[in-house]
Amino acid sequence: METLPRHERLLMFCILVLGLVEGTQCQTPCETNGFYANCKGRSLAAVPKDLPTALEELDLSYNRLFQIKIDDFSSFTNLRALNLSYNNISFIENGSFASNTLLINLTLFNNSLTEMPSALFEPLQFLQVLDISNNFYSCPTLGAEFSKLENLQSLSVGGPLVSKVLKGDFAPIKNISLQKFSLKTMSSLGFYEKGAFSVLNTQTLWLDIALDTNPQALPLILKDLAGKSFNSLRFRNLFEFTYYMDAMDVFSGLADIFIGELTFYRGKFNENLLRLTLKNVEKSNVQDLLLLSIDYARSLSTNRTSVRIKDLGLQNLVIKDVTNPDILRFDWTFTWFSRVSHLYIINVNFNFVPCDAWSQMVSVERLDISSNRLLASNLYNLLCQYSELPNLHTFIAANNNMRSLYTISLLTSTWPKLDTLDLTSNYLGARDEICTWTPKITKLILKDNTLKVEVFKCLPVTVEHLDLSNSLLERLDMDYFNRNTNLKELILSQNKLKFISRDWKCPNLQVLALEGNSFGVIDTGSFKDLPELRRLTAGDNPYHCTCDLYAFFTETLNERRIILADWPQAYYCYHPPQLLDTKVEFYTPGQVECDVRLVVAISVSITAVVVILCMLVCWRFDIPWYLRTTCSIVQSKYRSRSFRDGGEHNYHAFISYSHSDADWVRAELLYRLENCSPPYRICIHERDFLPGKWIIDNIIENIENSRKIIFVLSHNFVNSEWCNYELYFAHQRAIGHAFEDVILVVKEKVTMEDLPKRFHKLRKMLRTKTYLEWPSEQNRQHFFWIQLKSILGKVSPPVTSQESLSVVSETVAFGSGTPSVELSKVTLPCS
Ligand SMILES: *[C@@H]1O[C@H](CO)[C@@H](O)[C@H](O)[C@H]1NC(C)=O
Ligand SMILES: *[C@@H]1O[C@H](CO)[C@@H](O)[C@H](O)[C@H]1NC(C)=O
Ligand SMILES: *[C@@H]1O[C@H](CO)[C@@H](O)[C@H](O)[C@H]1NC(C)=O
Ligand SMILES: *[C@@H]1O[C@H](CO)[C@@H](O)[C@H](O)[C@H]1NC(C)=O
Ligand SMILES: *[C@@H]1O[C@H](CO)[C@@H](O)[C@H](O)[C@H]1NC(C)=O
Ligand SMILES: *[C@@H]1O[C@H](CO)[C@@H](O)[C@H](O)[C@H]1NC(C)=O
Ligand SMILES: *[C@@H]1O[C@H](CO)[C@@H](O)[C@H](O)[C@H]1NC(C)=O
Repeated sequence: METLPRHERLLMFCILVLGLVEGTQCQTPCETNGFYANCKGRSLAAVPKDLPTALEELDLSYNRLFQIKIDDFSSFTNLRALNLSYNNISFIENGSFASNTLLINLTLFNNSLTEMPSALFEPLQFLQVLDISNNFYSCPTLGAEFSKLENLQSLSVGGPLVSKVLKGDFAPIKNISLQKFSLKTMSSLGFYEKGAFSVLNTQTLWLDIALDTNPQALPLILKDLAGKSFNSLRFRNLFEFTYYMDAMDVFSGLADIFIGELTFYRGKFNENLLRLTLKNVEKSNVQDLLLLSIDYARSLSTNRTSVRIKDLGLQNLVIKDVTNPDILRFDWTFTWFSRVSHLYIINVNFNFVPCDAWSQMVSVERLDISSNRLLASNLYNLLCQYSELPNLHTFIAANNNMRSLYTISLLTSTWPKLDTLDLTSNYLGARDEICTWTPKITKLILKDNTLKVEVFKCLPVTVEHLDLSNSLLERLDMDYFNRNTNLKELILSQNKLKFISRDWKCPNLQVLALEGNSFGVIDTGSFKDLPELRRLTAGDNPYHCTCDLYAFFTETLNERRIILADWPQAYYCYHPPQLLDTKVEFYTPGQVECDVRLVVAISVSITAVVVILCMLVCWRFDIPWYLRTTCSIVQSKYRSRSFRDGGEHNYHAFISYSHSDADWVRAELLYRLENCSPPYRICIHERDFLPGKWIIDNIIENIENSRKIIFVLSHNFVNSEWCNYELYFAHQRAIGHAFEDVILVVKEKVTMEDLPKRFHKLRKMLRTKTYLEWPSEQNRQHFFWIQLKSILGKVSPPVTSQESLSVVSETVAFGSGTPSVELSKVTLPCS
């Protein structure tokens, strides 16, 4: 303890105190917002003390309260509703609600009160709803204080120990006009004193009284109610454990009461009791009869000769949750249906409709046979002679086991007024059937079925409202919508539609529900042929957030022709993965991303720019020329590979010159170099190129065979293509030799600008390498020759093989007889 910090010690203390004294103020066990406190089911043994005093509603139900003290609610002066149901309260101090004068609702249902605590309610002038039923008092006698509760609308009294109802029990509320009065007694009401109910003034009367041992009380009760008018009279468990076997007509007073809705809920009903009931209902003006969850059995000593029920004019006859289907043919006929307008036979386990049943339902306008596990063939029997059901306009057969829509169409085809057909929750629509329908049908509900695309061949083309939701439908038959020009509302929600067709034509469709399907894309044009479409719901689909989808929603929202009723909360992207669970609303792709024309324009212009750039580069660096030439070299190298003999050069020099410089070369250069001693062996194209051989080969081969290459630079040289070639090859050869073998003789002054761009190597040479300039003055020419010869170097011994080869080649070339083309080429170089 010593080591604990202070606040923890405090907490410990609190917990200790809580353990000792329950209901202390350490914590409030209720949820509260200041005006409403929910203390339901907190195992409270006392009313919490720390609740806000401004409370208007307090729910203390399902606790373990066993008593109420005078100050428990004294601070809640604004309280309107107090729920104390499902506790074990046996004692309430006098004056406990004295401060709660504004109370409207007070529930003490299911507690352990042993006396009617009438005095408590005296101050509650505004009380409207008071439930003190299901308590352990044996006398339901209301105290005189009740006469002051002028605003009371609903009063529930009684409990499992109430065994007798006395004349004055309800007298204090005689002058109060109630909406609802409920009385519960023990399972067998021992004594009903005549006149007890005659004071009642209520619209709804619920009697949870079992008369198993005292059936003669019922005529007394009904007699006390004679002349009164009820919206609803309900008997719960009228005969709880035994079937009524007597001949006495216990319902004889029914005809004197004005009852809108008569309900029998639970309890034992045999043929006898049902007949008595119906015979009296026949005579009364009961509009609706409800037989709910009753336990029906045939009487053993059935008197078949008894009067038939043929004149039961009812607005609604509801037979629901009855396990024994014999009730339908309770007196071996169906005549009791003959004057019923709305017939509900719900969850009655019947699985067969005899032929004569249909013929009795001539007045039925609305027939509901839901939840009966019926097969279609149980409904429609080929052996029956079907008469018309002339008045039937609504047929509901939801939640059965029907599989054939065709059979339903046969059955209903003789019902001229049928306009609504509800076949929810069956197994219809999976078959390939062709059906014919009664022409009035305008509403067809096939929700929760197992529809396949074939169903469209069977659907009526007259319907305006068609519900095919939640039915595993994967595809639509567009032809159907074309044919059904009446269709206004189409519900296709919660299916498996994967695709929205662009040619969906339906001229009058106004409402379309497509939510909860499996399609990812809607195109802009998808609903263009639905000109009347006004309302669309298409959320909860696995949307592919693409430009098409974006365009669709943008256009639809902007246009405002169609209202997207569930936009934007139900629309999420499913694809692409990085957009998963993003709301479609927030998916806004850029214009560039989506505008196809823009994309095309941009790519076209980019391509154009690239092409132009390429062309410029090519032009600038003469790339085609290089390509061509390189190609030639490769070809030529390939061709000349066989003749290559490496190492020694046959010529001392190869002279490359332009045609217009030929005179000078012959007269000066050649003359000087070949006439010195020993003479240089010089190669010039005019003389030394092998005729009959391709010019490029000649150039390459002779350059390769020459030790040096002399270029005679002049304007003409620069402009000559062949000279360019020669220069290029020399350049190629020079790769790795650093142009040591190249001698530049500048015959005419050439400026850098004159040189084509591709001669950038030559430009570099001219810049870096010393070149020989042919001087025009005679006296300086001598020096030129000395310089040239020194660069050419010493003359080496002659090589004979090349000459013999030349001779051989020449003879071959001339001997071949067709040298003209090749020869003409040989005469061309440097021109
Ligand atoms: C009181 O509480 C019970 C149980 O929680 C509930 O069923 C009932 O409707 C409540 N009554 C009123 C008047 O709120
Ligand atoms: C209710 O209270 C009584 C005493 O008033 C007690 O005997 C009984 O056990 C309690 N019932 C429950 C369920 O707590
Ligand atoms: C409450 O007061 C009335 C008189 O006003 C009295 O008859 C009754 O016995 C009292 N009940 C309790 C539980 O004290
Ligand atoms: C009182 O009870 C009625 C019926 O149970 C209910 O409709 C109404 O809302 C309640 N009033 C308050 C203030 O809780
Ligand atoms: C109150 O309800 C409980 C459970 O629903 C039940 O066991 C108990 O008997 C009821 N009390 C009365 C008086 O009906
Ligand atoms: C009901 O009203 C009548 C006349 O208005 C009156 O004589 C009678 O005493 C009242 N009954 C009760 C129980 O308040
Ligand atoms: C059947 O009814 C007839 C006349 O209503 C009566 O005479 C006869 O006794 C009845 N039979 C039985 C077995 O109840």
